[in-house]
Amino acid sequence: MAMPKKSPIYTRAWTFVSGIKLMMISTGQRRWLFFMFSVLPLLYIVQAVVRVQLGNWELLGPEPGKTIVHFTGAWAFNLLIATLCVTPLTRYLKWRWLMPHRRMLGLFFAFYISLHGIAYLAFLLEWHWADLATEVVERPYLLLGTMAWLLTMPLIITSTKGWQRKLKRRWKTLHQLIYLIALLAAAHYLLQIRAGWFEPVLYAVITLFLLSTRLFHKTARK
Ligand code: HEM
Repeated sequence: MAMPKKSPIYTRAWTFVSGIKLMMISTGQRRWLFFMFSVLPLLYIVQAVVRVQLGNWELLGPEPGKTIVHFTGAWAFNLLIATLCVTPLTRYLKWRWLMPHRRMLGLFFAFYISLHGIAYLAFLLEWHWADLATEVVERPYLLLGTMAWLLTMPLIITSTKGWQRKLKRRWKTLHQLIYLIALLAAAHYLLQIRAGWFEPVLYAVITLFLLSTRLFHKTARK
């Protein structure tokens, strides 16, 4: 009878360590931790806006509207990256406990880009819809950001278990749109490079790395 193949020692050690972690903290407690991590930036920006209103004018810099657009954009990208990290961490480090939290991270990503888009419309465009076409021509990165935003919507609508059951295999195909969204987000940030290039390039490299792990896995399975 063929013996079952043993996984390498480091894989077993890691599974053991993450298993201990799993025993120490329940899925419900972790859900709270992930919720707090995701909601903290929102609480931070809300208290900052309140303090600015109360007379602490300097807190958000000379252009508070712009600061809010930048802050929400950066957090949208952080949560997008956190969402994209779940599959490789589950696959290669066997952190299976992460999987139940992927949906929450994805929903918070959608929440922050929606805030980011609305902050742009309110503070930078000041709801002057007639200027939108000129804005897009002058700043093409807006188009890429908007495409990413629009593509996120079907993923949010179909993120429930009910839709997953209804769409079956097509659900997975549809949710692969997240890769295109990530590329559009990286291009949106890269096209804004003026003086500081480090952060946009870092985000683009992390995005490409996370997407390449998928490609690597797909080719390795063939
Ligand atoms: C997936 C979607 C999106 C992501 C991940 C994203 C991310 C970002 C990031 C990381 C920044 C730079 C923040 C910083 O400098 O610290 C940024 C800036 C910006 N984004 Fe987005 N964004 C997205 C969609 C959008 C949309 C839909 C709009 C508007 C329609 C938009 C408008 C802007 C504007 C106006 C800036 C500031 C550019 C400047 O300083 O002139 N973004 N975004």
